[in-house]
Amino acid sequence: MSPTLQQPVATRLTRAAIFLVATINAGAESEAALRGLCGDLPGLVRAVGFRDLDGQLSCVLGFGSAAWDRLFAAPKPKDLHPFREIRGRHHAVATPGDVLFHIRAARMDLCFELATQIMARAGAALSVADEVHGFNYFDDRDLIGFVDGTENPVDQAAVEATIIGAEDEVFAGGSYVIVQKYLHDLARWNLLPVEEQEKIVGRTKLSDIELDDSVKPSFAHNALTTIVENGEQLEILRDNMPFGDVGKGEYGTYFIGYARSPARIERMLTNMFVGDPPGNYDRLLDFSRAVTGTLFFIPSATFLDRVAAGAPPPPDPPDEAAHPRPRASSPDGSLGIGSLKEGRNT
Ligand code: HEM
Repeated sequence: MSPTLQQPVATRLTRAAIFLVATINAGAESEAALRGLCGDLPGLVRAVGFRDLDGQLSCVLGFGSAAWDRLFAAPKPKDLHPFREIRGRHHAVATPGDVLFHIRAARMDLCFELATQIMARAGAALSVADEVHGFNYFDDRDLIGFVDGTENPVDQAAVEATIIGAEDEVFAGGSYVIVQKYLHDLARWNLLPVEEQEKIVGRTKLSDIELDDSVKPSFAHNALTTIVENGEQLEILRDNMPFGDVGKGEYGTYFIGYARSPARIERMLTNMFVGDPPGNYDRLLDFSRAVTGTLFFIPSATFLDRVAAGAPPPPDPPDEAAHPRPRASSPDGSLGIGSLKEGRNT
């Protein structure tokens, strides 16, 4: 059997990114167009990416819970659910989103061209809910001035943190991602003495060195987002990007966190927004407001190929054979996938 291919989740950080969150418009035609796009995407990435071989262009495609039900029905990835809002000391909002395109490259023109081609191909099937163009800011800093991404796992550790294995056999090779758009009150943040900012983040600002435990507060961002289970640290892979609009006074960080289970990201969010213990919350949130929040499943590239080929859904995992989950109910047993090309007016 050929190995399951992954989407390019566990890649190195890039200098530019576009985060495109869209909703699928009503109607079977829109759904068929989206399933067609699953097969068309690799070709689009190849075509645009070939224009600069050093451009590192990639695109990860994810689906929200409701979109999954509409497009693929069952079986469904076992931890896929709508983003759960959190109301604690601060509010992590849940906002609409059926599909995510996380487009990364060394140059923004590559990202922009791919986003344009994707939307042209999707035609009337998609409405953009949120679009953020992220840029690299000096030495991988976010707009609050701290280096962001230092403690990310790399190489095999990044794969282990993000890619589903035997815990959900049917969807092995997939991943989960949570995105949140944060807007900073930079004027107030910049009034804080640097020593206070460092205590909030848990690292030094200029040299990006982790604060010693003897001086790091328990509410430091990197303390609340370090979670350990059975003696093992549960890691996620972040590829946050600064974005902004000077005219509107908008300065933000687009948070994107990949993991093999959404539970670990949700636990980090609870620690941040409610506190650990409750009340000991992340002071970064006194200066940064989450204005979006959505959870997506990232199927393997192999799954997208199967969709494109109109292949039947994968079998139930062995332990479910006795109590199978319901399947897509197409009379011919297929996913009911129409070719995008047939539906397109070209
Ligand atoms: C306003 C939004 C955010 C900003 C500006 C921000 C910024 C930072 C910075 C500067 C660091 C230290 C450097 C590093 O290791 O990357 C960091 C670490 C980290 N952040 Fe965030 N972050 C944000 C939101 C989040 C969210 C929502 C999560 C998870 C739900 C998260 C998870 C983490 C993790 C896991 C670490 C590494 C902790 C460690 O192992 O030391 N961050 N973040």
